[in-house]
Amino acid sequence: MISHLVTEGIRGNPNIPGDKSISHRSIIIPSISSGICEIRNILKSDDVFHTINAFKAMGVKIKEENEKLIIFGKGLNSLKKPKTSIYLGNSGTSARLLTGLLSSQNFLTVLTGDTSLSKRPMQRIADPLSKMNANIQTTNGSLPMTIEGRQLIACNISLEIPSAQIKSGLMLASLNANGETSITENKVTRDHTETMLKYFGADIQINKVKNKKIIKIRGKKELMSNNIDVPNDLSSSAFFIIAALINKNSHIILKNINNNPTRNGLILALQKMGAKIILKNHRLRNNENICDIEVVSSELRGCDLGPEFADLMIDEYPILSVAASFANSPSIFRGLKELKIKESDRLKLILYNLNNCGVNCKEQDNDLYIYPSKNYKIKNNVIQTDYDHRIAMAFCVMGTKIGPLKIKDAESINTSFPTFKDELNTLGGKIFE
Ligand code: S3P
Repeated sequence: MISHLVTEGIRGNPNIPGDKSISHRSIIIPSISSGICEIRNILKSDDVFHTINAFKAMGVKIKEENEKLIIFGKGLNSLKKPKTSIYLGNSGTSARLLTGLLSSQNFLTVLTGDTSLSKRPMQRIADPLSKMNANIQTTNGSLPMTIEGRQLIACNISLEIPSAQIKSGLMLASLNANGETSITENKVTRDHTETMLKYFGADIQINKVKNKKIIKIRGKKELMSNNIDVPNDLSSSAFFIIAALINKNSHIILKNINNNPTRNGLILALQKMGAKIILKNHRLRNNENICDIEVVSSELRGCDLGPEFADLMIDEYPILSVAASFANSPSIFRGLKELKIKESDRLKLILYNLNNCGVNCKEQDNDLYIYPSKNYKIKNNVIQTDYDHRIAMAFCVMGTKIGPLKIKDAESINTSFPTFKDELNTLGGKIFE
């Protein structure tokens, strides 16, 4: 895929797809609740299809009707042993959440994934689950992973790694444990699972003590079905927001975007950078905050973001690094260790690709330093993505400003945003195969 220079700005109202994190949870939780759930605006991307197929393989009836997904849930213990292993493609969220859920089911499952997912750390979910008596065998800490479901024991767990995927895996496991499980989160991470479980009537209590959050779940209570309207994805919006900010004569309005305070670090960071962004029409939908976002071209300042931002916007650093490359002063993004173990080593690829685009940047102790210039001399216009969708989309946006850039393996974009290219082209982008 080649992303060319844009001259007329990025203008219009992009159609942003449903939120990826909420879409996964909108399949998993209805599948184990009692009754029929109608899900609107589910993200139709490869990652989400893997979660849908996993539940179909475990006997859940799921059908699409009038643009809605209809899930016929039959309760906490209604899943059936799949006939073969479950393949989850590139999806870390599916892998970590299913590991928790399947630990308490009465059968053995094997989870597999693509090359990238098979390299990602799974011990981080297997270890805390083993405290609940789960029986999980990883392959050198990764997939393929065998989960022998059994009766779990409620216990107290303190989360050492800030990860919504680990927290959510443990919460799904606790739903079926005998007694009350207490999960202490020492740093804030996205709270979509807590929000949805409350909405489905789980026996869940949440207390905040200083910076800690304590989640208590009493197991064996059946969840009651509910309909869900998935809000649009802020992480996918980020590519359009930055494209509009860095290109002159741009003006876009993004509608119905999830603006969850455990995940809005990008907006806070851009506001610090002087971006002209207006959030309006704030409202609640299925207990999630949503709003519309208006963005116009802006002169950005560099900024120094502490590690607390990483917890609120880990997926947005590739595209924020592109924004920082066009600011009028340097930026430092601190505490990016987790960025190395995402769908790719994102820190390495940001540095490698920015450097090839002529941007002066460096890493020191997991902190990323970016020194912008007014005039970039491209050294090599082939962007390496290691099949990572967010790296591919971030450098498509870079191409709108300094292109042409050749984005390798751009089909990875289908994992989260299959309509990305067409949508950006509708707004003035020039991206061709
Ligand atoms: C996600 C949590 C984050 C994020 C991922 C989606 C989720 O991962 O990077 O894209 O839906 O729970 P971690 O929980 O590993 O930080």
